[in-house]
Amino acid sequence: MDFISIREILDGKYEEKEVSIRGWIHRKREGKQTVFLVMRDASGVVQCTVKKESQAWPEAERVTIESSVTLFGMVKRDERAPGGYEISVNMLTIVGLADAPFPITKGRDKEGKKGEEDSEDFLRNIRHLWLRSREMTLVMKVRSEVLRFTHEFFQKEKFTEVSPPMFITSACEGGSTLFGLKYFDQSMYLTQSAQLYLEILIYSLEKVYCIAPSFRAEKSRTIRHLSEYWHIEAEQAFADMSDLMLLEEELLTYICKRAAESCKREFEELGADMKKLLQIKPPFPRITYTEAIDRLNAKGFKTKWGADLGYEEEKALAEEFGKPFFVYDYPKQIKAFYCKTYRDKPEIAMSTDMMVPRIGELSTGGAREDDKDQLVQRIREQGLKEEDYDWYIDLRRYGTVPHMGFGMGLERLLVWMLDLENIIDSIPFPRTTRRFYP
Ligand code: 4AD
Ligand code: MG
Repeated sequence: MDFISIREILDGKYEEKEVSIRGWIHRKREGKQTVFLVMRDASGVVQCTVKKESQAWPEAERVTIESSVTLFGMVKRDERAPGGYEISVNMLTIVGLADAPFPITKGRDKEGKKGEEDSEDFLRNIRHLWLRSREMTLVMKVRSEVLRFTHEFFQKEKFTEVSPPMFITSACEGGSTLFGLKYFDQSMYLTQSAQLYLEILIYSLEKVYCIAPSFRAEKSRTIRHLSEYWHIEAEQAFADMSDLMLLEEELLTYICKRAAESCKREFEELGADMKKLLQIKPPFPRITYTEAIDRLNAKGFKTKWGADLGYEEEKALAEEFGKPFFVYDYPKQIKAFYCKTYRDKPEIAMSTDMMVPRIGELSTGGAREDDKDQLVQRIREQGLKEEDYDWYIDLRRYGTVPHMGFGMGLERLLVWMLDLENIIDSIPFPRTTRRFYP
């Protein structure tokens, strides 16, 4: 027997034809003469009806929510059915009968969405089952597509994909968010960013990128922090800050355009606003850090020049723009040791954050210090140990080159694109201070 996907039925390819499908029982409603089943597979959901006179009737009565089944029946056009088609079932085989009741039950009879009584907390603790929900299924699909478009973009721009290590010996983004671990008899860390390793690779490959996990011992409980997230990072030789901002805005524009073409259905069903994707067009507005401070203080903030911008500040700025924009030229004291400074303005680092509404910072990038002596001085200034960065300093000894790069959090990107309430819902198995199960 050949099984077809539910999507093909909803696309109208099988009207008045007999089909076999397989999947899980998403919802069930019993009448005296008819059992209504909503079936789901990876491609979609479809309503199925089993009449009392059908030989499928006994199994339809017995079957429980989330049982896996195969069924055979006739596809009918029906305006009232969600998706416009319905299957009139002739045969139903239970593959795996689910225990009843399925733990997530509340509100499922409405739209299959979470009901009032299934609290966010409950659903997050039962993640392994909640991942079967329509919401999570749709988000996972968009996530996969965004990853695909990111690869497409970098390949199109002739970047080489590389694979950085996860076990590392020296910090990239400061000690306060480092996860330490025992590595045989030695202390090591989990990587916070592949940047320093990507920098090694530009000396042979010139333009490199990776999409890999980054780890942050992040105590803050916000809608934009995870302790394990997926990091889109790129590094390019013979390039400066303006090349960097062009590259970043082209990447975001490409992802948005491709998502608007291929994820329409997912956005619609999730109720996410796709207009903002269609409106993305380079060039993005660019303001300096100093201008950002002036704008904030005009809004009533009391931010001093030299202070780092927090979530509230970034959100307020982003609200003004209502779309992605860059803040650049930060004070060097709030930026990492590897940031290049202006020779004629040594207090300013060539660093830029891309910000988006609701989230604030979506990426950080910049020009890297390519002068050995300047780099060593910055390492010392920040109280870091020179010997921890021996190999990194070596890169400036042998054929140093102006270069830039950036890192963008995949989950923050998804929160923005899909209007998600919390970053937790953009990744299948979120890790936060409180959550690491299953
Ligand atoms: O701003 P960050 O710390 O910059 C770096 O790691 C650079 N080394 C990147 C580079 O230049 N290659 O992190 C970059 C981005 C942030 O802008 C944010 O989108 C994301 O990574 N990010 C997080 N996402 C989720 N949870 C966290 N705890 C995150 N920390 C950073
Ligand atoms: Mg940053």
